[in-house]
Amino acid sequence: MAIVYDPTYKTYTLHTERTSYQLQADRFGRLLHLYYGQRSEGCLDYLLTFADRGFSGNPYEAGDERSYSMDALPQEFPVQGTGDFRSPLLIVRDESGTFGCDLKLKGHAIRAGKYALEGLPAVYADAEADGAETLELRLENERLGMRVTLLYGVLPKLDVITRAAVLENTGEGTLRVEKLQSACLDFVGGDFDLLCFYGRHAMERQLERGPLRHGATVIGSRRGYSSHQYNPFVILADRGTTETAGRCWAMQFVYSGGFRAEAELDQYGQTRLQMGLAEEGFSYPLRPGEKLTAPEVILSYSAAGFERLSHNLHRCIRRHICRGKYRDAVRPLLLNSWEASYFNISGESLLALAGEAKELGMDLLVMDDGWFGERWDDRAGLGDWTANEKKLGCTLGELVGRVNALGLKFGIWMEPEMVNEDSALFRSHPDWALAIPGEKPVRARCQLVLDLSRREVCDYLFTSICAVLEQGNIEYLKWDLNRSIAEAFSRTADDQGRVLYDYMLGLYDLLERITARYPDLLIEGCSGGGGRFDAGMLYYCPQIWCSDNTDAIDRLTIQYGTSFGYPASTVGAHVSACPNHQTGRVTPLATRAAVAMAGTFGYELDPKKLSAEEREEIRHQTAAYHEDAPLIQDGLYYRLSDPASELCCAWAVVSESGDRCLLSAVLQNGHGYLPAIYVKPRGLTPGAFYRVRESGKRYPADALMDMGLPFPQPAAEYDCCVWHLERV
Ligand code: GLA
Repeated sequence: MAIVYDPTYKTYTLHTERTSYQLQADRFGRLLHLYYGQRSEGCLDYLLTFADRGFSGNPYEAGDERSYSMDALPQEFPVQGTGDFRSPLLIVRDESGTFGCDLKLKGHAIRAGKYALEGLPAVYADAEADGAETLELRLENERLGMRVTLLYGVLPKLDVITRAAVLENTGEGTLRVEKLQSACLDFVGGDFDLLCFYGRHAMERQLERGPLRHGATVIGSRRGYSSHQYNPFVILADRGTTETAGRCWAMQFVYSGGFRAEAELDQYGQTRLQMGLAEEGFSYPLRPGEKLTAPEVILSYSAAGFERLSHNLHRCIRRHICRGKYRDAVRPLLLNSWEASYFNISGESLLALAGEAKELGMDLLVMDDGWFGERWDDRAGLGDWTANEKKLGCTLGELVGRVNALGLKFGIWMEPEMVNEDSALFRSHPDWALAIPGEKPVRARCQLVLDLSRREVCDYLFTSICAVLEQGNIEYLKWDLNRSIAEAFSRTADDQGRVLYDYMLGLYDLLERITARYPDLLIEGCSGGGGRFDAGMLYYCPQIWCSDNTDAIDRLTIQYGTSFGYPASTVGAHVSACPNHQTGRVTPLATRAAVAMAGTFGYELDPKKLSAEEREEIRHQTAAYHEDAPLIQDGLYYRLSDPASELCCAWAVVSESGDRCLLSAVLQNGHGYLPAIYVKPRGLTPGAFYRVRESGKRYPADALMDMGLPFPQPAAEYDCCVWHLERV
C-alpha cells in the first residue's frame, strides 16, 4: 500500500520506495504538512513545535491556546485569510469582494491507480504495473460554498508524487479566484539553496543556484506560455547538496501557460516552496456549479543528490508523461530545412535536401517555415495553412510523395496559434486575434496570437491542421509558437480574468484531438527554440526543439540545465553549419555531433555546401546514431561536470542495466598547456570490467569511476572525445 491512513493520528502517509510524504488532519480539521523525506514509518507529528509567538494569531477554535498558530505551523494547502501571513496557495473573494476562505477537511478517499485531470495534461500510471495510487482530500468552506479536492498521485517505483487541486463552487454566488497554486511544501527548518533555470531566446535554461534569504524569491512567466525566461521547474536543496550527495526536492509544473514558483523563508526560519498558475492576468470567476482545476505539479525527493532526482523525473516524463508511438519507438534522424534555406525554400531545393539526407543516412526531411500562404518572409501568411504551390512548384501531396519515393519520411512546420495581419485568415476574422478593442495590439515578429479560448478558433485550427496532414503521408509536425501573449482580451469571454487559462485549455484540447486522430504522428514542440519546454507540452509532443541556438558550446550549458528536469529523449538537438549562424563560432563537426547526440539527433544545414570529407564524416555519424539511439533515448543521463565552471564538459548515458555507456566530453577551452584532464563516468557496475570500443582496451569499472579516462591531447579548438564502454 503506497497510501496509508492512520485513524488514530489522522495522518495520511504517501510512501514510495525511498521516500515518504506525510500530512495530518489536526484536531480542528486543518491540514498540516508533516514531512517529505527519506522513507519513514509512524506518525511524525513530533516535528511540530508549539510556542506562544507575538503577532502570530490563533484560530478561534484554539481558544486560549496561544501556541497554536496558522502563521507558524506547516500547512498543506494554505489559504489567504486564515491567520497565516505567508504566501498562500489560494486567494478567493466572494461576491461582495470580501477576501478569505477558511477550509476544513470533510472527507477522504484512497483509490488504486493515478487520477487524471479533465482537460489538462497529467502523469498517467497504472494501478497494477506501476502500483500507482490516488489520495483525494475534500476540504470545504460552508459560508462560501467552496469545495476543494486535493489530489495526490503516488508512483512508488519512481519516487514521484504528484499534486493537483479541483475547486468547486457549491454555493449560490460567484466566487472570484485571484490566486491558485497547485502545490506547496512547508519545511519546518533547513538552510536551503534554490535552483532555477533562467534564460532568454537562444539561451534557455541556464542553471542559477543561490541561498534563500528572508522574504520571497519568485520566478515565473507572465507571458501566457511557460517561457524562455524561466522554466516551470525548480529544485530546493540543502546548501551542500551535489550531484551525488545531499537532500533535494523538485517541483515540476505539468502546464505550459504562465506560472509562478516561489520560495519563502519566513520569520521563524521555515521555508515554503510553492508552484502554480501565474497571478498576473488571472482572476477567475467561479460561478455556482462550476469547477476549476489547478494543474498538476510533479514532486520528487532525493537524499542522494541531483542525479537521482533527475533520474526520477526522467523516468516519469519518459514513460508517464510522453505518449503515443514515439514514446517508445526510436525517433527518426531528421534533416531540417530552416538553417539550410530559411524562407527560400522551393520544391526543388527541398527535394535536393531530401536526396542528400537519404544519401547521408537520415530518415526524415522536415520542411520548416515558408511553405504556405504568402509566406515569403515573417511578415505574412501565418493562419493560411494551404501550400504555396508557386514556391513548391507542385502540390504539397506531390512533394510528400516525391520525398517518400526517395525513401525518406516527410515532416512539416506549422505555427497554429498565430496569425499575421497580412493573411487571408486575419482579413476574414480580425476578431479572432487577442487584442483589446480600441487599443493597438502589441506586435511581435509581425504576428498576433489567435484566441484559443474560443471554440470556433480551435475548430478552425483542427480542420486546417487535419487538411494539411491529409495531403500526404506526413509523419512529423513541428508545432511552433513565436511570441508571448501581451493582451489577454477575448471578444467572446464573459470575463477577461479567465482568458489565459482558457487559452491553455483550448490548446490542450486541440492537441488532444490531433494526437487522438493521428496517434502515429510525431509532434515536436517548439517555441522560438525552447520557450515552451515543459511537462505539459511533453504530454502531446515527446520531443521539443531545445533552443534556436545550435552552437555546440552554447548548447553545453543549455542542455546541461535542461537535463536537470528533462530526459535526453525530449531534447531536440541538431548539427548545424559553421561558422554557426547564431554565434559565428567554429567548432569541429565531431563536437557538434557529440553534443547533438545528447538529444533527439538531426541536422539543420545544407549538405551540398559541405566537403567530401565532411559528408563522409556525417555518414559515420548517422550510422553511429542509429546504433546508439535506443541507449540515448532510454538510458540514464549523468552530468559529469558543470560547463559553466569547468574546462571540460562531460556527460554519460548509461543503460538501465549498466551494460553500456556512451561517455562524451567536450573541451571548452584548450588554450595554453593544459593540465591532464580525466573524464570520470558514473553508473557503471561496480566490480565489472568495461571494454572501450574505440581502443579495444579493457578497464575496471571502479578505476574508471574513481580516476576516469584521460582526455586525449586536443587536435583542434573545442575538441571532443566519445567513448563507447561495454561491460565484458
Ligand atoms: C522558430 C523556430 C525555428 C524555425 C523558425 C521558423 O524560431 O524555433 O526553429 O522553425 O521559427 O520561422
